[in-house]
Amino acid sequence: MTRVLIVLPSASYRTADFVAAAKILRAEAIIATDAAQVIRGRTASPRMVRVDPLRPEWSARRIVEFAEEFPLDAVVAADDGGVVMAAVAAKELGLVHNSLEAVRATRDKSTMREIFARAELPQPAYRIIGANDDPSRACTEVGYPVVLKPVSLSASRGVIRVDDAEAVLAAVARIGAITAEAGRDPDEPILAEAFLPGTEIALEGLLVDGDLEVLALFDKPDPMNGPYFEETILVTPSLLDGRVQDQIASIARAAAAALGLVQGPIHAEMRIDDGQVSLLEVAARSIGGLCGRSLRFGLLGTSLEVTLLRSALGYRGGPSALQAAASGVMMLPISRAGILTNISGQEQARAVPGIVDMELTIPIGSHVRPPPEADRYLGFLFAMGDTPRTTEESLRQAHAELTIEIR
Ligand SMILES: Nc1ncnc2c1ncn2[C@@H]1O[C@H](COP(=O)(O)OP(=O)(O)OP(=O)(O)O)[C@@H](O)[C@H]1O
Ligand SMILES: [Mg+2]
Repeated sequence: MTRVLIVLPSASYRTADFVAAAKILRAEAIIATDAAQVIRGRTASPRMVRVDPLRPEWSARRIVEFAEEFPLDAVVAADDGGVVMAAVAAKELGLVHNSLEAVRATRDKSTMREIFARAELPQPAYRIIGANDDPSRACTEVGYPVVLKPVSLSASRGVIRVDDAEAVLAAVARIGAITAEAGRDPDEPILAEAFLPGTEIALEGLLVDGDLEVLALFDKPDPMNGPYFEETILVTPSLLDGRVQDQIASIARAAAAALGLVQGPIHAEMRIDDGQVSLLEVAARSIGGLCGRSLRFGLLGTSLEVTLLRSALGYRGGPSALQAAASGVMMLPISRAGILTNISGQEQARAVPGIVDMELTIPIGSHVRPPPEADRYLGFLFAMGDTPRTTEESLRQAHAELTIEIR
């Protein structure tokens, strides 16, 4: 039987989707994870391999040992935390993989900036602030407003805009605390970047032997000006001018090539100001949270997970045109820190025309926090429509029906 190992964090939203995808492809899914998984949905329990994202080499050895007994046909990482161990293990097993250097670069925002700079790709001015460097000086050199961020986190954790020298030290201390809480070295470097004005997009792509196919280009219609950067609405197809879209795709291609990524998904983020495209970053994974559920391909509505596993298993072709004329997702914003006590209006939200699904991902009674500390998503609304604008409107209307009580 075809066997695919998927590296997923225990808190992943996507385990059931990946397990279901493997089943559709008649492959056995093996889950490599850091703790016992709670798998929702009706899926037979998959086999597990215990790994630790903070120890990628050790984890890769566990995967290789498993494969000695049960040969694997592909090793796939579902998120950032798994890409290094997946690359090491896949290399060892002679399976398709990205180089270790390439995936490592995507896990360190400062290394990525250096690589993009060498490749002369468009990006903001930046400085890397080491533990012994003066952060205010770095910010002055970059020029205010500045965005400060930890080099190793994702989902906008610890990303803070500062407008003047007075705000720098407090932001640096806050980032140190967030980094420590995430189990990283609190003294790891901080990246200071010039704040890029303009609109933001996300490109979902799939690399096959170095060729990039654009699966979807999402607009982010809510302004993200900080000081913290909470993601809300993503809608595809993009309404940007076709020439700008072509430029985005070619920058994504060049960025993947500069990093040395050749296989598997990429998630690239860029900002566009006055027709000028600048790179935020490129990750060697697919879109985060449950956002991938907004993408359905071909007439049968093939999922993103099926698309990724198919490709990892070496099947070529398959549907890549999006099923709906337009689709979108909204990550429900968290207004403030506290205990989530109730979410009312759910039926009304689901009944809004264009809304196809809603999934709440934090149980009532849980402690929630907005960015920059947030480490979980409250939930997701999904919409389809005839145009990106009506899809966005459905998401806004559905969100307006919800009353999210945080005490
Ligand atoms: N230099 C910048 N100028 C303007 N906005 C920025 C800049 N850097 C980051 N941001 C904003 O902060 C968000 C998160 O930053 P970044 O993508 O670097 O970190 P991240 O933690 O990987 O986020 P995610 O996982 O959501 O992609 C970006 O999507 C963008 O909205
Ligand atoms: Mg990002």
